[in-house]
Order: sequence, then structure tokens, then C-alpha cells
Amino acid sequence: MTKIGIIGAGAIASVHIDSYNRLSEHAKVTAVCDTFRQKADGLIAEKALDATVYDDYEKLLADPVIDAVSICLPPNMHCSVAVIALKMGKHVLVEKPMASSLEECDRMIEASRVSGKILSVVSQNRFNTPFARVKNMLDIGVLGSVVYANFESLWWRGQLYYDLWWSGTWEQESGGCFMSHAVHYLDLMHMLFGMPKRVQSVMSNVVHDNSECEDLGFAVFDYGDKLVQFTCSLVSHGERHGISIEGEKGSISIPWAVSASRALPNGFPEEDTAQREKLEQTYHSIPELPLEGHDAQISNFLKAIRNEEPVVVNGSEGRKTLELVMGIYNSSVSGTSFAFPVATDDAFYRKETMVAAMPKFHEKKKSVDNFSTSKITLGSNMGR
Ligand SMILES: NC(=O)c1ccc[n+]([C@@H]2O[C@H](COP(=O)([O-])OP(=O)(O)OC[C@H]3O[C@@H](n4cnc5c(N)ncnc54)[C@H](O)[C@@H]3O)[C@@H](O)[C@H]2O)c1
Repeated sequence: MTKIGIIGAGAIASVHIDSYNRLSEHAKVTAVCDTFRQKADGLIAEKALDATVYDDYEKLLADPVIDAVSICLPPNMHCSVAVIALKMGKHVLVEKPMASSLEECDRMIEASRVSGKILSVVSQNRFNTPFARVKNMLDIGVLGSVVYANFESLWWRGQLYYDLWWSGTWEQESGGCFMSHAVHYLDLMHMLFGMPKRVQSVMSNVVHDNSECEDLGFAVFDYGDKLVQFTCSLVSHGERHGISIEGEKGSISIPWAVSASRALPNGFPEEDTAQREKLEQTYHSIPELPLEGHDAQISNFLKAIRNEEPVVVNGSEGRKTLELVMGIYNSSVSGTSFAFPVATDDAFYRKETMVAAMPKFHEKKKSVDNFSTSKITLGSNMGR
């Protein structure tokens, strides 16, 4: 039985606790920590946990009973708490984004290497059936070469969203919608296609005047043999997410859609029914995942702790997503295309120099310690 400590008892902590509870054969949440003690108390009562309350994470980390922690803190704290936890011999599952900078990611990866403890970064959409099916289809090559893909990370957040004290600041949140929301899709992009050669981006804040950071942006990634277009928005009503992938032998999309064309003698298209049906059958023949989202990722984290399987989203996988964000920010500031990788002497490797380089779209004037509700949406219908 893996004993779990939850650090940060805000909105996402509840999702972690529900997953650990559903996996109760192998995990037990034994401690919850928040500087607002009443939030930790509240979660323990709401989830009927037999757990100790802490208001200081260092005390939770000193608790010898605890084997592993879920870090559900604001992004600015992910690195420092993860490094201490790993040094104290705890396995770490850290919420997205992995950290505020690549330099912080590297410190976390090194702490995991030295301690021999597992570091995993939440990226729950990797564990969704539609994405798993599309990945499988690319792996077996049914589309032929991929030449173009389009990712849409379209969310909506009201003005009040940025009133939370750590939200909408380069210092605390380390970015806007690319850092906070598009990370889910950037993770899927490098999972499907690997790392690009270059990126060209533009971004702005068009609605949220209590945030220093972007709420809308566009990026085009150049892979040499394909281009990937990426739209990231917090101003799009509803929650619309999508990927379309154009290959030599057909086009597939999430939410699921498929088409295949072949050329008439004049180059104009006609539908290739046999190929479309082949792609349709392949997609549906790939089984549904037994667990999805946080449940699936936390199950992988627990199995990795028990040495039953490798951790899927380890530190270096989490770092790649942050490197994509830093490339996007670099290009948006310079107005030119940015060539990967981000070097260790690049201003976008370290947080202080990245923050200094970024424009403040607006001044954050309002700040609240807590909202009256912790209800959130996770985009969990992604791809359905
Ligand atoms: N995977 C997802 O889909 C998803 C969704 C939402 C949030 N998140 C991520 O989860 C993290 C937390 O987000 P949230 O929405 O739960 O934020 P939140 O503000 O609701 O919760 C964070 C909690 O940390 C507590 N805290 C702050 N400093 C602390 C300290 N020093 N010691 C102990 N507790 C402290 C706060 O009081 C708060 O209760 C962020 O990184 C966010 O990006 C991920």
C-alpha cells in the first residue's frame, strides 16, 4: 500500500484524492497539507479520509509514513517542493506545468536521478482513448507520412478567473494560456510527432485585463517534413479541443472524423471509400483504455513505484512540453522564428530572465486568497 501526501488542497487536489480513492487497493491518502488549514480539513471531511492535516509541507515531507506526494500547488512552487520531496525520499507526482522554467525542470530531473525516486508530471490527456488510438494509428503507419496537423486548444475563462492571487502573473503562474492550458496539447504534440525544429508564434491578451500574460496565441511548428499549426485561446466560449492530422493516405481528426481522397486524372479529388473504411475500422478496432485521465496516470504512477511498469510521463517528457512553451514565448517576443533546443545560456532557460523578457499585457490589480467555489472543468471530454 503506497501512502500518499497531498500538498495543496485547492481545486485539483480533489481530483487526485478521488483517483487515489478509486485505486484504494494500492494507495491510501494519509496526509493533506495547505497553508489554509481549513481547506485541508475541508477536503479530508468531504472525502471521508483518515488523514493527518498539515499547514507546512516540510512537516508533511518529514512524516516517515508517507511514500509519495501529489504536488497540487501553484506552478511557481512545483520545483522547490518537488526537489525537497525527492531529497527526502518521496516519489513525486507534480501537476502541470512541470515548473516555471527549464532550469527548474533540470533541477527536478537531477533530484529524481540522485534519489532514485520517481518523478512524474501530470498530463492526463495522454491517457484518453481517442488520443491513444490516434497514436497507435500513427505508430503502425496507416496514414503514411504526416504532412500537416492542426491543434486547437480552445477554452473560455471569465474575468474573475485571474483574481486568484497566483493567477495571471509571470512571476507566479509563469505564463498565460500556453503555459496553463495548451500544455495539455503541446504534450500530445511531442508525444505524436517528437520535437519540432523551429517555431514561429504571435500572442496577445485581448480580454483578460487582470492578467499580465497571454489569453490568445498562435504558433506554427516546423518539423522539416511537416508543419503543425497550434491555436491556444481562453476567449473561446465552451470547451472545444481538437486535432486534425493530414497524412499521405488520409486525414483523421479528434473528435473522431476521417476522410480519404484519391486523385482523378486531372488531380481533382474523389473519395477513396476503401481507404476511408480501412481507417475507420482501424480506429474502432483499437480497444478503449481501461482507465482514463487522472485515474490512469495515477495508476501508472503507483505501478511505477511498485516497479510493475515504467512511468509514462517522466521528468524529461514533462520538460519537453515546457521547452515548447519557452520556444513559443521566445519567438513571440523576438518576432522571428525560434530554433530548438533552448540552450542553457538562452534568456528563456531561466525564470528570472524569461520573466524580464516578457511583455506585461495588463497590470494585475485585483487579488483574492481563495474563491468561494473550487469547482473546475478539466476538459475531460477532450476528443469525445
Ligand atoms: N491537470 C489539470 O487539468 C489541472 C487543472 C487545474 C489545475 N491544475 C494545476 O494544479 C495546480 C494547482 O491548481 P489549483 O487550481 O488546484 O490551484 P488552487 O489555488 O485552487 O490550489 C492550490 C492550493 O495550494 C495552496 N498553497 C499555496 N501555497 C502553499 C504552501 N506553501 N503550502 C501548502 N499549500 C499551499 C493554496 O492555499 C491552495 O489551496 C496548478 O499547477 C494548476 O496548473 C491542473
